[in-house]
Amino acid sequence: MPRPSRISLRPGGFRLDTATRLRVAPGAERAARLLRGYLTPATGLRLDHADDGTFVLALDPALTGLGEEGYGLTVAAHGVLLRAARPTGLLRGVQTVRQLLPPEALTLPSGPDTAPVGCGTHRPEPAGGTPAGAPPHRVELPGVEITDVPAHPWRGMLLDVARHFQPVTYLHRFVDLLALHKLNVLQLHLTDDQGWRMPVAAYPRLTEVGGRRAESMVGPAGSDRFDGRPHGGSYTRAELAGLVAYAAGRGVTVVPEIGVPGHVRSALAAYPALGNHPERALDVWTRWGVCTNVLGVGDHVLDFFRTVLDETMDLFPSPYVHLGGDEVPTAEWESSPAAIARAAREGLPGPRQLHGWFLGRMADHVLRAGRRPVAWAEDGAALPSECTVMSWRTPEHAWAAARRGHDVVHADHRRVYFDYARGPGPGEPPAQPGHSLDLRTVYGLDLLPPDSAPELAGRVLGAQGQLWTEFVPTPDHIEYLTYPRLCALAERAWNPDHDWPDFRTRMDGHRARLTALGVPHDTLRDRTAPAPRVTGAAPPPPRTLPPAGGSERKETAG
Ligand code: ACM
Repeated sequence: MPRPSRISLRPGGFRLDTATRLRVAPGAERAARLLRGYLTPATGLRLDHADDGTFVLALDPALTGLGEEGYGLTVAAHGVLLRAARPTGLLRGVQTVRQLLPPEALTLPSGPDTAPVGCGTHRPEPAGGTPAGAPPHRVELPGVEITDVPAHPWRGMLLDVARHFQPVTYLHRFVDLLALHKLNVLQLHLTDDQGWRMPVAAYPRLTEVGGRRAESMVGPAGSDRFDGRPHGGSYTRAELAGLVAYAAGRGVTVVPEIGVPGHVRSALAAYPALGNHPERALDVWTRWGVCTNVLGVGDHVLDFFRTVLDETMDLFPSPYVHLGGDEVPTAEWESSPAAIARAAREGLPGPRQLHGWFLGRMADHVLRAGRRPVAWAEDGAALPSECTVMSWRTPEHAWAAARRGHDVVHADHRRVYFDYARGPGPGEPPAQPGHSLDLRTVYGLDLLPPDSAPELAGRVLGAQGQLWTEFVPTPDHIEYLTYPRLCALAERAWNPDHDWPDFRTRMDGHRARLTALGVPHDTLRDRTAPAPRVTGAAPPPPRTLPPAGGSERKETAG
């Protein structure tokens, strides 16, 4: 999962045992480390290097048809050959090797060359009857011939750590689960009205003040109930650097998102001079919904955010930097003499156009640093032409942007917003009200329009799932909403074939892997067996989470 582009079974299989050695060709060291990080704890096998090792990891730049991420894998009785043109392809192949093993070999990695994984509540008991402390020393890979190349280069997942902060140890696990499904982008939503999680040395109040809110709204946007409990948290630079490295070791790029010029209330609470009413003291927002406070448009605000972006780019080597750009009410600008004057000075028709203008200034800055700016497509209107467009309202916005020459990433809320409930049932845990998305709906994701011209298809980078966390405070809840729907996203972004019965059959097999990793994946209605056992005492989400309420739609509650 996702289905390889070409796979055929072969007779025989390869047995990994204490005699098995890896032959690690130059350039394949990272893949070998990853493979050992997964398999050694699960099997007790060291899988040391030997020049005559029968499990070969090799780079061959002549295999150009495999591209950046493709790989070939041959498993026969006498040996295993994993080949790719580029190191990232080998990392994808390692995940396939993992999936070919019995599910109980799918433990979370640990060991000297991997960072700690899991958040305590997630470390699964060894599955499949393997007693703890006595891993099997023999596992068998089935004979197989695979050639596998992804259809799309951007296969992403957004995690909103602004609405509810998660410790970095959990982010490691989150990344590892993305990598298992060959997703290659983690978009980290680091800033929003309700919290600022990104440390900025030049402006420490962003996290000191902006990283904490007094309480949180209970229920959807518009509710008048609050929980009375402070919520906060922010990352250190070392934690984020560690996450970036951990993800890179798995072929996952962490794309930082610093949202402007809306969704900035936490920054305004820390530095009121950034706002349109510098005299006004604002708190870090405790509500959900669209906040009317947006950034002012003075030079000092542009300079401030250029510095924030510089520090962000310093920490995140990602070629892409996400600038947000969604849900920007223009009322403050329309009643601000300074904003009206700025719009006039810039030759804009009016203050509403300051939205695109502001994004354009930040996009210029990102471009000058040699990176590529990404922004949410709010509607069909033009974004600065240099922006990669992430469309969240309808796929038509993505295709319209592609026709205008933008690279695009699909993030259609009706297909891949995993903050919507997995089903309509009243027993589902809290989720974004308005829709529910079942597995089949996600699988229905289409990245290309039916009449797709080749040049248009080339501008569709891929697709990304979103996990906004207004209603999602814990890792268990994150995983309940993310899985199994992420599997359908991974499938549609990797493999262009559309075959629901085949996907569903493979999904049934894949559930054993998710179970082994302690990932919830069944629906409440068809749960017949106990939820996966987890250590650390946190019961699975369906039993711990109160029922959802409310009816606010995502379109107004992002
Ligand atoms: C969004 O959901 N406002 C991107």
